[in-house]
Amino acid sequence: MKALILGGSGQLARSLLPLVEGAVLASRTSDSKLDLTNTELIYDRISRIAPDLIINASGMTGVDLCETNFREAYLLNALSVKEIARFCRNNKIRLIHFSTDYVFDGSEGSYREDSIPNPINYYGMSKLIGDAYALSYDGSVVIRTSGVFGLSRNFPILVLEKLKRNEQVNAMKGYYSPIFAGLLARSSVELIHSEWSGLLNIAGERITRRELAVRIAERFGLDKNLVNEKTEGLGFVAKRPFDSSLDSSLARRLLSIDFYSSEANIDEFYSYVNRK
Ligand SMILES: NC(=O)c1ccc[n+]([C@@H]2O[C@H](COP(=O)([O-])OP(=O)(O)OC[C@H]3O[C@@H](n4cnc5c(N)ncnc54)[C@H](OP(=O)(O)O)[C@@H]3O)[C@@H](O)[C@H]2O)c1
Repeated sequence: MKALILGGSGQLARSLLPLVEGAVLASRTSDSKLDLTNTELIYDRISRIAPDLIINASGMTGVDLCETNFREAYLLNALSVKEIARFCRNNKIRLIHFSTDYVFDGSEGSYREDSIPNPINYYGMSKLIGDAYALSYDGSVVIRTSGVFGLSRNFPILVLEKLKRNEQVNAMKGYYSPIFAGLLARSSVELIHSEWSGLLNIAGERITRRELAVRIAERFGLDKNLVNEKTEGLGFVAKRPFDSSLDSSLARRLLSIDFYSSEANIDEFYSYVNRK
């Protein structure tokens, strides 16, 4: 089995690599020099690798970056998936693709697999189009997730860095369902080994960013009183959904791993930080 993981330097791709038997990474920086925004080259480049399974963990994930570089966001998050799905369909191999909670407008929260998307920023829109391309092929699994953290410099890492320096943390008001990248990778691998196809939510417990920061402070023995909640002055370009939390009850029934509780996610994060 040769599994091709796309999105080589990303936090999810790096977490998946040691868990997937026979996995090879392709990215802009690896030997393959695979730039997925060159959509006309994708099919041929993947054909040369000749994988039996593709896990697409690539993506333009900077929400503000997508808003200002919407051409690149469209090429990577939407059109590259069309080419990847076309290769998988023609070669009858499985495709694992990742979607986002940002396909929703955030007015309701606890979104299920059958909830109706309504993106309010370009990241969400470009990802939603990519989801549609992936799901147009019956042999694909689309894992919709939220707030993937641990390895990249995103909110939980910033919280930790700031609290360690005794600086104030400004948490954007609102809810999401953050999941540690390693737990998402392990859950995804369990799903790959099952018969599942189609869309599935795999994300953590619904929580505010403030509460997450407070729990991180408690777990790492840092000062939780430095955590504030803010709605304005955060300097974002793109709109953010207020409550983009996902309902992962279906995945919790299907999978044996506890990917859900914030306690499990923060514990994994704690172990990862202390192992580095
Ligand atoms: N991060 C989150 O909070 C979050 C939430 C919900 C869903 N997701 C989804 O989960 C997936 C993985 O996210 P992540 O957090 O692991 O993202 P990440 O750390 O930002 O990694 C994404 C990777 O995509 C690759 N990439 C970017 N532009 C590329 C290009 N032109 N050609 C080829 N590869 C390119 C990059 O790898 P190279 O530089 O090596 O090419 C990058 O490391 C994405 O589909 C994302 O939309 C993420």
